[in-house]
Amino acid sequence: MLDPTKNQLLTRVGCGTPMGDLLRRYWMPIAAVSEFENETIKPVRLMGEDLTLYKDMSGTFGLVDRHCPHRCADMSYGFVEQCGLRCNYHGWLFDRDGRCIEQPYEDVAQPEARYREKVRIKAYPVEARAGLIWAYLGPEPAPLVPNWEPFTWKNGFVQIVFADVPCNWLQCQENSVDPLHFEWMHMNWSVRLADKGGKYSPWHLKLAFEEFDYGIVYRRIREGMSENDPMWKVGRVCLWPNALFTGDHFEWRVPIDDENTLSVTWCFSRVPKGREPYVQEQIPAWHGPVRDAETGRWISSHVMNQDFIAWMGQGTIADRTREHLGTSDAGIIMLRQRFLKDIEAIARGEDPKATIRDSEVNRCVSLPIADRKNLVEGLTLEQIAKHPLAGGQLKDYVFQAGQPREVRKAYAAAMGLSK
Ligand code: FES
Ligand SMILES: [Fe+2]
Repeated sequence: MLDPTKNQLLTRVGCGTPMGDLLRRYWMPIAAVSEFENETIKPVRLMGEDLTLYKDMSGTFGLVDRHCPHRCADMSYGFVEQCGLRCNYHGWLFDRDGRCIEQPYEDVAQPEARYREKVRIKAYPVEARAGLIWAYLGPEPAPLVPNWEPFTWKNGFVQIVFADVPCNWLQCQENSVDPLHFEWMHMNWSVRLADKGGKYSPWHLKLAFEEFDYGIVYRRIREGMSENDPMWKVGRVCLWPNALFTGDHFEWRVPIDDENTLSVTWCFSRVPKGREPYVQEQIPAWHGPVRDAETGRWISSHVMNQDFIAWMGQGTIADRTREHLGTSDAGIIMLRQRFLKDIEAIARGEDPKATIRDSEVNRCVSLPIADRKNLVEGLTLEQIAKHPLAGGQLKDYVFQAGQPREVRKAYAAAMGLSK
């Protein structure tokens, strides 16, 4: 259990809160580049701040306040220009750094006052990488947007998947360092959802957790596995500060505010051997539903939807004073302690864990990856079909409900499937 003060400290993400300030030291994925193929403006809410994300006519992305500094009109109904975003109310124009570069009436009526030089809109840096748009809300100088190893891989079909999850981000992230739930929430629950008499999957016998530069590695031994198994030797990654990384996909839990989280998945499917070179022209992005429209209950059919049920079930902001942690929760304790230490580190003026500033390091940041060889070199279609994890994906997108038909079609075409 956690005392109420620490629970509050770790869960609040607003500007000026200790955890909010710590999370602002990291780049957060907030949207997909492909969402801006047909749209130019999108309202976003990030760590309690209402903002407007746009792509101007020169192709530059910008992230500014939701409200105009003139008389507070909604900038998400503004319109883009060659450079920057114009408010639709009286036409003030702002560039991506927040400078006011036109004030149509003031510029004519009182040019000598140079009023526009005195007005700025709040603006944050944004960068595109791996098909995602990343935002940084922290102090300058900003660190680098991490160039995680899979972002450099070739011959993959990538898709980006979002979901709005109505609960606090920390309970979502604690799930990233909770290997035991895989057995019950995903394996055994799925068995029971499909067949009431179905046989349970092998039990976990041993777990281990260990901090490394970019997160916490967790390892598992289940019945029938030896210590030579990659799940023990390499393990999987709770990626700092707010993601799970399994080798072929990342799942970020991005705080929208204290009570809502944007789930962002980046999923890499290696095309079968023999289909190289495969170059993906556009990384598709889609939003999946969380609730079943017919029954009103949460959707439970897909892996991440099951996770969402766990997260949301813990309450809007989990009350950790009521919990009873066991030995399986050692990783969760490590994660909380590291955040508490890093809150102190930034107060001392230090960088927190997993901040990347060296561009040489950022050419390709390696992570523990159990299945690296297969993901880089590829498998034949027959081998993929027999693979315990990748095989299921040939039939359906197993991670989240609601994949649009056109994304499935693009995936099937990349993989060389008939449909
Ligand atoms: S409120 Fe935006 S220009 Fe007037
Ligand atoms: Fe899970």
